[in-house]
Amino acid sequence: MGVIVVVLGLLAYALFRPRRRESQVSEDRLVAIGGLVVPSIILMVMLGFTVRTFAQEPRDGEMNITVNAHQFWWEVYYPEQQFETANEVHIPIGTKVKLRLLSDDVIHSFWVPELSGKEDTVPGTETSLVLEADHPGVYRGQCAEYCGLQHANMLLLVIADEPADFAAWTAAQARPAETQNTRGQVLFERATCSGCHTIRGTTAVGDFGPDLTHVGSRQTLASGMLPNTPGHLAGWIKDAQSLKPGNAMPPVPSIEPEELRVLVSYLEDLK
Ligand code: CUA
Repeated sequence: MGVIVVVLGLLAYALFRPRRRESQVSEDRLVAIGGLVVPSIILMVMLGFTVRTFAQEPRDGEMNITVNAHQFWWEVYYPEQQFETANEVHIPIGTKVKLRLLSDDVIHSFWVPELSGKEDTVPGTETSLVLEADHPGVYRGQCAEYCGLQHANMLLLVIADEPADFAAWTAAQARPAETQNTRGQVLFERATCSGCHTIRGTTAVGDFGPDLTHVGSRQTLASGMLPNTPGHLAGWIKDAQSLKPGNAMPPVPSIEPEELRVLVSYLEDLK
């Protein structure tokens, strides 16, 4: 409003002033002041505010997590404890957690509305976001940049834990898989599963799909799309394309029902 009044005032002055030749010098001064000095002062003040805002933003978190986005799921890596999980980001409450955001294929956008704004994940470069939760709870997230057929089903959960619960969770996740179900493990290792998925502690070391070392501990399957139940897992293994068309998991039509049952119970036990 102030700017409009000043500009219109100057315009009125220019239109209706008395025409006099000798005012040339003072007009030059007016142009210099109005066109150079005043804008410079305004821009310097705004620069000061911008620098202050940037300085107040946390550059580093008190804890770091790497999130690598894929079509259509989230790889989550804890560098300090050196384990990987998927589609579920556990954080301790009251801690500034810095997410290092990467993308493996196309541009996605990490968005957990209750905890922060959106941040794009861009192939070939790195972005970051600081998350902090004040209260324990499960916060739903969603990819916020159209990334292909299953963009709408590229969901995630941020689970904010009390510090002791978080410590217990990370300690459990950092351990290799433990199982009594050797038949299930051998089935997994010999089947095509191991070409794409890792289960630490076994010979399955594929790294195309999510790390399944503790898949049984997760709340969802298919990046937040399905609850993690034996029935959904069996359907997913048998024909993931019918549940989430366009995802990278091939159907396994040849699997025998009995093998499927053993495989599902093996995976669901990987807590
Ligand atoms: Cu990933 Cu939209």
